[in-house]
Amino acid sequence: MSLELSGVTYVVGRTLLDDVSLTFPAGKVTALSGPSGSGKTTLLSIAGGLLQPTSGSAELDGVDTWTGTGDPRPEFAFVLQVYGLVPILSARENVSVALRARGVAPDEADEHAEAALARFGIADLGERQVEELSGGQMQRVACARGFVVGADVLLADEPTSELDEGNRAVVLAELRAEAARGAVVVVATHDPAVVEACDLHHALDEGRLVQMVR
Ligand SMILES: Nc1ncnc2c1ncn2[C@@H]1O[C@H](COP(=O)(O)OP(=O)(O)O)[C@@H](O)[C@H]1O
Ligand SMILES: [Mg+2]
Repeated sequence: MSLELSGVTYVVGRTLLDDVSLTFPAGKVTALSGPSGSGKTTLLSIAGGLLQPTSGSAELDGVDTWTGTGDPRPEFAFVLQVYGLVPILSARENVSVALRARGVAPDEADEHAEAALARFGIADLGERQVEELSGGQMQRVACARGFVVGADVLLADEPTSELDEGNRAVVLAELRAEAARGAVVVVATHDPAVVEACDLHHALDEGRLVQMVR
């Protein structure tokens, strides 16, 4: 399985992505690096089917990721840069809803949600309303929610930006575990330590791919 971008260009007034072609293979963690504003979030959004490319395509095993609505296919899970959590729900509920939305029974979803929070060291925060949490704690809830569904493709947008070194290492280990079970894992980051921990690396600058190494 692989996620493949071919000649992806995205124009809104100006060109945010310019003819980007690359492959994200299953079983590997791929870093997507680049300075702020280089197009990382835009690229992940197109890869995950949240945005339609102006030209070119993003395909998972030959099937277009864009469904025509901006709703991602069920094969995709996200850790978004803005977290996308529901502030008035508890941490556990925020994780649990990702499973319930995929048809998992509530009790079972809650159990898996607890386990996912534990993976990120925040089992004790399950009952807390998300709006009371710190930025780093919210980021870990967002990680738990992205990881809990066991998706074929996990797209994580700067998932460690608010974390200390210890928690960053936890998230990196969990990203590796997702790849080890065969998922396509992509991590947008501008942290060299995160890039170093990935198997593959692509870099963006001003919407263009600048490097195809490792
Ligand atoms: N919907 C939009 N309309 C216009 N400009 C946008 C839009 N979304 C993002 N941008 C701009 O596109 C560039 C790339 O943004 P982004 O993909 O968020 O970069 P990164 O994630 O690397 O910081 C930035 O200059 C940003 O301001
Ligand atoms: Mg971004």
